[in-house]
Amino acid sequence: MHWWQTGVIYQVYPRSFQDTNGDGVGDLAGIAARLPYLAELGVDAIWLSPVFPSPMADFGYDISDYTGIDPLFGTLADFDTLVARAHALGLKVILDFVPNHTSNRHPWFVESRVSRQSARRDWYIWRNGAPDGGPPNNWLSEFGGSAWEYDAASDQYYYHAFLREQPDLNWRNPAVRAAMHEVMRFWLRRGADGFRVDVIWHLMKDEAFRDNPPNPDYRDGDPAYKSLLPFYSTDQRQVHDVIRELRAVTDEFSDRVLIGEIYLPVEKLAAYYGANLDGAHLPFNFSLIETPWRADAVASLIERYEGSLPAGAWPNWVLGNHDRPRLASRVGPEQARVAAMLLLTLRGTPTLYYGDEIGMTQVPIRPERVCDPWGLNVPGQGRDGCRTPMPWNASRHAGFSSAEPWLPLAADSAVSNTESAAADPDSLLTLYRRLIALRRARPALTHGTYRPVAQSGTVLAFERVVDGEALLVALNFGAEKANNVVLPNIYRGTVLLSSSPGRDGEATAGHLTLRADEGLIILRDS
Ligand code: NOJ
Repeated sequence: MHWWQTGVIYQVYPRSFQDTNGDGVGDLAGIAARLPYLAELGVDAIWLSPVFPSPMADFGYDISDYTGIDPLFGTLADFDTLVARAHALGLKVILDFVPNHTSNRHPWFVESRVSRQSARRDWYIWRNGAPDGGPPNNWLSEFGGSAWEYDAASDQYYYHAFLREQPDLNWRNPAVRAAMHEVMRFWLRRGADGFRVDVIWHLMKDEAFRDNPPNPDYRDGDPAYKSLLPFYSTDQRQVHDVIRELRAVTDEFSDRVLIGEIYLPVEKLAAYYGANLDGAHLPFNFSLIETPWRADAVASLIERYEGSLPAGAWPNWVLGNHDRPRLASRVGPEQARVAAMLLLTLRGTPTLYYGDEIGMTQVPIRPERVCDPWGLNVPGQGRDGCRTPMPWNASRHAGFSSAEPWLPLAADSAVSNTESAAADPDSLLTLYRRLIALRRARPALTHGTYRPVAQSGTVLAFERVVDGEALLVALNFGAEKANNVVLPNIYRGTVLLSSSPGRDGEATAGHLTLRADEGLIILRDS
């Protein structure tokens, strides 16, 4: 099996992980310094949100040079050091590849916008206005407003699925594809172990640029972007040809991974593995983030997802990222422990978001400190609250920086930080460490089959089974004790790991009682 199948991926948001040069923003040297913490946590790979030169209109998701490192984060030499140190500790390094759009200050776009005759005009998506002079069609930007920006000098519009500072590249142009393939090779040659590909389902758009249809489920108060179904602007059939090529470039190097960011219903993820499993190795599955935190909803989600995977496709699960509210705030601190157990026992590769292992919560951001352009455009949509600095210890600025951090630290950083959590045998961090260690030690968890066992009330139970080893995972999604959970297929077993103190080693037989907010991993007697 491949490392990206058996391993655990950890997302680092570089601006907020560790600052070493005292500017209040995290950097590559900081990530390198904190690698021992990650090795001890037991993860196998880190994915870094973008660290490339960028005007930072969207905090690095607007790239102005694909083959450099932004001075804010360090240098190429710092990158090489980080990769070398990570590899020495057995950690892989996955980079964020943002091929859908560049910064409007990228030299390609600067050249493209010079005139309609520019040699790079066709590298981006330029269209004439509608007959009334308005935008070419009704497509909307995910970050608010029309997705078309008028350029008076050439009397045309360019398309941007996100900010106007993020013009979309034209992936129908073979020169664009070739240039971006070279970008991938640049980093793969330098030792990157793969890519997380930003908004991969956006890469191709309808060739005729037809209007998107209205969304019948749109409700007053929803962000305007939701008023249309992005039927023609995303998830086009031809995107799979593009992804197949990205995969082929990845496969020019040994044992690298291609992960696609895709916000689509689980049934639609199947196509992103490629018709012959020649697409993304892992189309990110964000469905746990979107599903109500109830045993019945999660059980049916797992069934739908498992049922929709193509033969041979490898599953994956995600509980948090830099775009969504913090896990511990979504489900509550008690259920964060159950969530950890679920994520690390489901079949497939788990991706953790930095800080979720210590239960970081959404940090309230005062209006004057809002940085996220989405939050500035559409009040309430800001993502700053889940991107705040990692608290390492009780010192000033929580050991993150010697200066005031770019976003505020959580108010409880002095008491809730990695140092205090590491010293507490009952902390969430200790639970994460034990779960990851158990996952590594038990083949049933890394590559066993998934078998639903029971779902009733607030309890979800499933088995992971491999060559004579069967583990039962029983999770109580409720804040009440669950008595007498009947486990038809579990006759006798032993608790290997409990999310609450004092039950490890307990013998179980037939019936089970779960405490409030408790999860158990039980080894079935052979
Ligand atoms: C998805 C990224 O995760 C998000 O942070 C970013 O703003 C958009 N893509 C645009 O690149």
